[in-house]
Amino acid sequence: MTVVKLGGSIVTDKKVAFSYRDGVVRSLGRAIAASRERVVLVHGGGSFGHPVAKKYGLSSRSSRPSPEGVAETRRVMFELDARICDSLLASGVLPYAFSPYPLLTAAGRKGLSWLRSAVGAGLTPVTFGDVILGDRGFTIISGDTISMQLSRSLGASRCVFVMDVDGVLDDSGTLMRSIGPAESRRLARKSSSDATGGIALKVREALRMAASGTEVAFVSGFRPRDFSKALKRLSFHGTTVRVPSRE
Ligand code: IPE
Repeated sequence: MTVVKLGGSIVTDKKVAFSYRDGVVRSLGRAIAASRERVVLVHGGGSFGHPVAKKYGLSSRSSRPSPEGVAETRRVMFELDARICDSLLASGVLPYAFSPYPLLTAAGRKGLSWLRSAVGAGLTPVTFGDVILGDRGFTIISGDTISMQLSRSLGASRCVFVMDVDGVLDDSGTLMRSIGPAESRRLARKSSSDATGGIALKVREALRMAASGTEVAFVSGFRPRDFSKALKRLSFHGTTVRVPSRE
């Protein structure tokens, strides 16, 4: 099983509100259909979810936003999800859209046999970053977090993060082909001014996943051939996270 996170920066143009990239998602869908790999898809919010969440003060931290803010943010996420499912259908992938809510309880994480059954029936489960209600108010759960939880609970062999750049870039903008703990520590120091953790947080989580047996890859969605290679575990243009025990 492979978990694929379609970043908001690739399914939308983050600079332009509600700008959906149909052509890009279709080309990624064609690559998934052709690969014959068993895939679970997770997508982010991009220029649909994030601007609306920001307008209402919703973030990954607990907050008490207006109910309108919660409703509108979820509404645009479901709209983006519908567009993604349309593009997937047009490219030969049969999406099975679901809310990530069931994954968030311990029982939900364990009882994912329905998801495996959907994959076994020829469907591609699709879920997304969402607004959830916890003990201390509403928070956003990012598609990255969901991808990691899913990878762990499904015992995925690979998790592919699809982005709008070629992979993880160093300070000078050069692609880092391979990342291990040392590179991760360097990235963490450099991005410490980033309030959300940014790519450094993503890489730290990726190392944890790699340590527990899930290979992690970062690849550009503008390079569908490389995405295809990453899915099939062939050598690709992008970043691979090294399993620490192999060092
Ligand atoms: C955000 O999900 C979801 C909402 C804004 C509700 P992500 O955090 O995974 O989105 P991207 O990939 O950064 O756009």
